[in-house]
Amino acid sequence: MTTREFLVSKIDNGTVIDHIPSGQGLRVLNLLGLDLTKYETAVALINIPSKKLGTKDILKIKNRELTSQEVNKIALIAQTSTLTIIRSWEVVEKRKIEIPGVFSGVATCPNSNCVSNSPEPISTRFVVEKKRVLNSQDWSIKLRCHFCERAFTRDEITDFVI
Ligand code: CTP
Repeated sequence: MTTREFLVSKIDNGTVIDHIPSGQGLRVLNLLGLDLTKYETAVALINIPSKKLGTKDILKIKNRELTSQEVNKIALIAQTSTLTIIRSWEVVEKRKIEIPGVFSGVATCPNSNCVSNSPEPISTRFVVEKKRVLNSQDWSIKLRCHFCERAFTRDEITDFVI
């Protein structure tokens, strides 16, 4: 029995977000904005051992599958995560969370003068610009607003998630 199975049982239906970088699990839960006061049930495992990451967080959300917009919100802060969909106790889908080419409607633009922040409703759109970090396998990612053309880091955008 692995540590996580020892800590929390399997679920019958819902979504498991695994391999979240340690310390980001509760942020992911917040970003998803689930109604945990009454209607939704979630389990958060924080700082548990992981072969790949050293330590990691896991979220199990019962009776809930995520929309592609919700998955994109997770990509903003936890791109190493894997998403597993459970139906009737079985794993029916398992995939790595990918950074999309465009983030649509997941956050408002941090530039208060941007036309997308005018009272007229406009769906926001950020185009992803990836650059390899010098001497590393990592990518640095910037998100450029389609409307005002300003570029933001992922950290700058996460405060503006809708
Ligand atoms: N899980 C669950 N309820 C189920 C089936 C799976 O909560 N009915 C969870 C497992 O505890 C695990 C994740 O979903 O955290 C992925 O399940 P599975 O692919 O069966 O586990 P592993 O092979 O151990 O996954 P990995 O190698 O990705 O760690």
